[in-house]
Order: sequence, then structure tokens, then C-alpha cells
Amino acid sequence: MKICGHRLLIVEDEPLLRITMADALRKEGWVVDVAEDGVKGAALFEQHQHDLVLTDLVMPKLGGIELLKRIKALSPDTTVVIITAHGTVDRAVEAMREGATDFIAKPFSMAQLVVRLSNVCSVRILREQNVRLQAQLEQRHSYSNIIGKSKPMQEVFELIRLVADSDASVIVTGESGTGKEMVASAIHFNSLRRAKPYLRVSCASLPESLIESELFGFEKGAFTGASERRIGRFEAASGGTLFLDEIGELPLTFQVKLLRVLQERQIERLGSNRPVDVDVRIVSASVRSLEDEIRAGRFREDLYFRVNTVSIHLPPLRDRPEDIPLLAEAFLHEFASDRRREIEGFTDEVVERLETHHWPGNVRELRNVVERAVLFCRGSIVTVDELPPNLRGGVQEPAPGEPLPVVPIQAAVERAESEAILAALAATQGRRAEAAELLGISRKTLWEKIKGLGIAVD
Ligand SMILES: Nc1ncnc2c1ncn2[C@@H]1O[C@H](COP(=O)(O)OP(=O)(O)OP(=O)(O)O)[C@@H](O)[C@H]1O
Ligand SMILES: [Mg+2]
Repeated sequence: MKICGHRLLIVEDEPLLRITMADALRKEGWVVDVAEDGVKGAALFEQHQHDLVLTDLVMPKLGGIELLKRIKALSPDTTVVIITAHGTVDRAVEAMREGATDFIAKPFSMAQLVVRLSNVCSVRILREQNVRLQAQLEQRHSYSNIIGKSKPMQEVFELIRLVADSDASVIVTGESGTGKEMVASAIHFNSLRRAKPYLRVSCASLPESLIESELFGFEKGAFTGASERRIGRFEAASGGTLFLDEIGELPLTFQVKLLRVLQERQIERLGSNRPVDVDVRIVSASVRSLEDEIRAGRFREDLYFRVNTVSIHLPPLRDRPEDIPLLAEAFLHEFASDRRREIEGFTDEVVERLETHHWPGNVRELRNVVERAVLFCRGSIVTVDELPPNLRGGVQEPAPGEPLPVVPIQAAVERAESEAILAALAATQGRRAEAAELLGISRKTLWEKIKGLGIAVD
């Protein structure tokens, strides 16, 4: 089993042993870092997050068990092998309980060490292969999830295929509900990073005060309430992909910091000035045109160039009517089988209504319409009666003097809420932070309501 390219950290206070081990393992193809005590070992680990750590148990300053705990807290997947000396077997057992994978007792020859490490490494490689295979299954799933036969959607598929394997930053644009989030995850699950984490950060719903600690993490005591160290999304996504949803909503002050991180590929946790290497691919999404935001002085042009190596635009659903029946059928199948209903399809009239509707909420709106239709459908085929009033046609305001139509209270509340939100968004040209303030709710609540009510924002 080949171990080339794996990064190993040796923490050992005996200089001769340290040097001999490092030489022997480098010859085997390992990339080796060395530290002479636990404190230096911990610092190197925080910076490089090694695949494997080989550490002595008894060392000055910070012992092997304490180091092991720190490593496991930061990176549970790292394999740790303990070096034990005569009389420390009990502690080696304790180390195994704390998550060490194996131990090797002094004295040992370099040949024995190499065999032992390549054994633990084989297990690790097999485990990684397993994760990769699982991710491949998911990938097939996630890719075929995106439905569309129209020319613009075929172009989108082609672009995903072209960019996935590279580390290029991708920005996905399109109106609300066009499938930006689906595209972002398809990029990750079709990339070489697929076995590593894919994390989404909703820039619109994070309160401004939390963005930095959420993304970069913090040290214990960095601020009131920081009772222990927490790693941020950048570190948690290490090796994988970070999806910055609604990137246009990031406050300008934070945009500067984000740009620096992307340029230097290093972050600093709040309360620390020690940089940590981060290797993440950035995919972002925006409903609004970032070019317009730049012109309006709300988005930094330099950050735009950083995150926009490739852009993928998702056309609104009304511009690709040939996808509508396909999507509607797929959603019908999904909801009908979820509810164990046997519904075969739609009447021609329904298909026509669906094809000619304007779909301000795009695919999300279509999905909601089909879900509702399945709920209301009595027979084996969906008819116009089961469509919401705005698609049934003939929704007219009652003439003056006529009684108002009776609607369930929940529907009445939702309608009033939608109107208030749309008015606030119109008054603030779609700036959600300001709209939330006008409405007297948090950005997060506003975000949830927009999603929950299926409000179309652009
Ligand atoms: N091409 C598609 N095929 C199947 N389902 C789709 C497609 N596009 C979107 N959807 C579905 O529509 C819904 C909205 O998609 P998604 O969340 O990706 O949109 P979005 O562009 O990120 O929207 P927003 O800007 O509001 O966040 C999801 O339920 C998704 O599964
Ligand atoms: Mg989205």
C-alpha cells in the first residue's frame, strides 16, 4: 500500500531517535515534520493537520496523552501512534482509550517502525477509500437530482462537469428558487474533494456580529462567552468545499477580511494571532447581480474577481418552459410515493397552466404547487381544481360590496406576512438586512420567512 504524500508529524524529545525516525520515514515517501516537545508538536499540528502523528508519551511541557486529546479535538480523523518506553504500558492503554490507533514499544528498529506505520496507514487508506466510494454514490444521486433538458440547463451541466475537478472558485447566480444550492453541491460531489466536507454558510441569515467567529472560529477567552475554543467553518471544511450562500449580503467590513483569507489561504481564529493554513474551495451564490452591487458600492470588486473565476448562471424557469413538465412529473412522483398515493399525472389543461405561468418563485414554487396538488388530489390524476387559485385562473378581487372570500386563518396570516415582507424588500431595493430592520425582525427570521412562504426575491 503506497503511503506517498501522506503528512506525518513526529513528536519526540530524544534528538537521535527523532532524527533517525524522520530519515527512515522520509525514505518511505512520507512528508515529515518534527517537534521536540508536545507544545511545539501541538503548534505544528494546528497549522498542518497531519494525517498521522507519531508521539512519545513522556515529554517535557506537554505529554503525549494531552497532545493526543488536543489532536483528536481538532481532527478526529487523524491517526495517532504512541511510542512507549519501559514502564509506561498503563499510559499506552489509556492513550488507546483516548483514541490512539496503535502503540510501539521502545526499543524498536526502523524496519519495525516502517512496517507498523504502513499497517496503520493501510487501514486509514481503506477507510478513506470507503468514504470516497460512499461519496461517489451520493454524487451520482446529487447530480441526477438536477432535472432539465432545456438548452440552458444542458449548458449548466456541461459547465459543472468542466469546473468540478478544478479548484476554481465558482459563483452561481440566478433568481430565487432556480437551483443554485443544488448546483453548488453538485460541484462539490463531482470534484476531487468529494470525500471531504461540504459546508454551507448562509451569509444572509448570519447576524453581522457572528459572521467572523462562525467562519474563522475563536480561542477560549477571545470574547465574553467564549468558554472554549471553537474552530470555524473554514477550518471545518478543510480539504473540502465552502459554499458561501448569498455572498452579496456580506457586510463590506467583512468582505475585506474574507478577501485577505482567500489570498493568503490562512485564517486566524478570533483571539489568536497564529495563522492556520486552510485549503478550501469556494463556491458562492447570489440572487442579485454582483456587478450591480459593485456599481452601487456595496460589493468589493477585488473580492468579486477572487470568487468569480467561473460563473454559472441559472436561467429563470419561465425562460425554459420545456423543463416544466419534466420537473412537475418528477416532483409528482416524489410526493405521491412519499404519501403512498397512486397519482399518474396531470390533465393536459394543468400542464398548459404550468407551462404558461410566470413562476416568480421558479422551481421552488413549482415544487410547492405540485406538493399542494398531491395533497388536494382525490383521484388518480391532478386536475385544475387542485392547483392554487393564482394558477387556476379567474382569481379576481371581490367587487365592492361583495363579501370577502373566506380563507383559513393560517393562509390569511401568511398572505399578510408576505405582503409586509415584499413591501419592505421593495422599499430597500432588496437589501435584506435593512428590510429586516424595517420589519422589526432579525435577518435570520426574515430569511426563514422568505423561504417558508416561498416569496420570490430577486
Ligand atoms: N433543476 C432542478 N431539478 C430538480 N429540483 C430543483 C431544480 N432546481 C431547483 N430544484 C428544487 O427547487 C428548490 C430550490 O432550489 P435551490 O434551493 O437550489 O434554489 P436557490 O437558487 O438556491 O434558491 P434561493 O436563492 O432562494 O436560495 C429545491 O427544493 C430544489 O430541490
Ligand atoms: Mg439557495
